[in-house]
Amino acid sequence: MSKTETQSTCIVRVGLDDRAYDIHIGPGLIDRAARLISDVCGDARCAVITDENVAAAQLPRLEAAFAGTAQLAGTIVLPAGEATKCFDQLEHVCDRLLAIGVERGDVVIALGGGVVGDLAGFAASILRRGVRMVQIPTSLLAQVDSSVGGKTGINTVRGKNLIGAFHQPVLVLADTDALQTLPDRQLRAGYAEVVKYGLLGDRPFFNWLDANIDTVLARNEPSVLHAVETSCLAKASVVAADEREHGQRALLNLGHTFGHALEAWAGYSDRLLHGEAISIGMVMAFRYSERTGLCEPGLADVVEAHFKRAALPTRVVDIPSNTKGGDSPAIDDLMTLMAQDKKVERGQLKFILVRDIGSAFVSSDVESDDLRNFIESELAR
Ligand code: GLY
Repeated sequence: MSKTETQSTCIVRVGLDDRAYDIHIGPGLIDRAARLISDVCGDARCAVITDENVAAAQLPRLEAAFAGTAQLAGTIVLPAGEATKCFDQLEHVCDRLLAIGVERGDVVIALGGGVVGDLAGFAASILRRGVRMVQIPTSLLAQVDSSVGGKTGINTVRGKNLIGAFHQPVLVLADTDALQTLPDRQLRAGYAEVVKYGLLGDRPFFNWLDANIDTVLARNEPSVLHAVETSCLAKASVVAADEREHGQRALLNLGHTFGHALEAWAGYSDRLLHGEAISIGMVMAFRYSERTGLCEPGLADVVEAHFKRAALPTRVVDIPSNTKGGDSPAIDDLMTLMAQDKKVERGQLKFILVRDIGSAFVSSDVESDDLRNFIESELAR
């Protein structure tokens, strides 16, 4: 992992030997995408996968970048929302890519947030046994997390991201201009993933966020650039050291075991966005660590107060009622959903717990009864 800078953009290198790639971060990158992609992929044809919202806000910029070239082979526009990460849409996307005539040497471009990136990446990993992939993340969450590191996949009713593949992109273009049109709720949900890097391994970054939260959420360019760059440097370093999550990459799942169960329970709907779910999940991880004496009392309150300043949910009761007038998760449902977590090994759940802000670790020592009692108390909190 290394970093180079020009005046307003920077490049973070993900050091994966012959599969190493650059993450460009800064304004105006979509307008320069055709040239930047050509630098890496030559004159390969490109098929774009995006969603309805991003198509309206960003697709004209990408099409303008390709104007005058013969490289843009076609565009596939999907419904927006987490429910799109499913088998039906995967089949649809693969069918459309074949209809467009995407060949083994061509390139799939994911223009969008985490849903588009994960689905398009998975399609690219299986189409003709694997075609190249460029990620152009347009949400904060995708820029700081899901577009980097090669995790791709879809959800099933049994859980989040349970079907997928590792398929690294050949290039990531994180255009910070795209964040200017991102809905506020999406920005705040992505901010939870930014805070995650501070909480899991970088106390000074958490302190910086605590001092600069208002400018980041106001989309002030230098603050956003610093937040995205610091997050990408952290992610690139973890991915380069442990691409397939045999060890420390699991730390990136801080708050995710709880959060994924809540997301599945809420039906992967607008009721609870991924970043909102892990905001609740990270506070739960700190509370559980406090309760078991792993970290000093009071830290969970500090973390919760920070997420509240970002107007993020921090408790299960903060999840809005469903359209039928409200429900709350049953303890048995949450325990079953958590047991489907990808980190389960021989039935034993692995949790990311904390000794301090900036000091997370992987634990396989969580007792099922203890966990159940804890979640029951959280449901009542
Ligand atoms: N989002 C967690 C990871 O990429 O490992």
